[in-house]
Amino acid sequence: MKNLTKARAKSLTKALAKSLTKALAKNLMMALAVAAMLVGGSMFVGCSEKGESLKMITEATFPPYEFLRGQEIVGIDVEICKAVAAKLGRPFEVESVNFDSVIPTVISGKADLAAAGITVTEDRKKNVDFSIPYVKTGVVFVYKKGTPYAKGSDAKGRKVGVQSGTTSEAFVTDELKQQPERFDSPAAAVAALKAGRVDVVIADIDPAKNCVKGEAELALSGFITSEEYAVAIRKGQPELLKAINETIAEAKADGRLAKWVAVYTAEADKLKEK
Ligand code: ARG
Repeated sequence: MKNLTKARAKSLTKALAKSLTKALAKNLMMALAVAAMLVGGSMFVGCSEKGESLKMITEATFPPYEFLRGQEIVGIDVEICKAVAAKLGRPFEVESVNFDSVIPTVISGKADLAAAGITVTEDRKKNVDFSIPYVKTGVVFVYKKGTPYAKGSDAKGRKVGVQSGTTSEAFVTDELKQQPERFDSPAAAVAALKAGRVDVVIADIDPAKNCVKGEAELALSGFITSEEYAVAIRKGQPELLKAINETIAEAKADGRLAKWVAVYTAEADKLKEK
């Protein structure tokens, strides 16, 4: 079904691009843009067929939003996206990639939903559409007790560990105007802190709390940013966006979201104890 739709979309796009190029010979760029939009639009039709899975892309080292239970990716974001799939009557799939690749994967159409504790930012809004937010949060310092960090500027000139591609990284480059030490996960950055390879870590509060669980030598600061998480999708899909927004609003109103937060926070903390 998908291939057929894609093939049809291709030949349709070709034919249209041909006539468009003729008609708009003076404005080739415009014709190309229209052709690209047609391909995007047709692919959405392909993806939204009932029976075809709704694919979530994430980065699963971010408890309690997404983490591994054995081989399975679970967490608050997974529940939100599963509920969207249920609303649309479609099977559900989830895959994990490096955080830097999460947004590019929905832009390319290889996944339908990006949900990875993704902070809504003006920069990202240029490339994807965001749902309504589902969490108010922010980033904090993780530091060794005895070397406290409180406000952002305390990290000036320090070796700061962050997860690559995150708003924590942006805080270091944009606010502190220096280069951070980049890691694949918040936990890897915290391991480097424990080993003395970085002076301090910046991470989102919930995964940071999970990292310091049971670590007597580590402590957390208060918020140094104020952020909101939302689900990101490829631009120009109003119906999918509506389904996500309704799902989030319903899960907030009927207490499911609060339950997921409680259940997955407890499960992730327990995994940390082992
Ligand atoms: N909220 C931060 C951001 O959007 C960090 C998200 C990291 N998420 C993850 N699943 N590793 O940049």
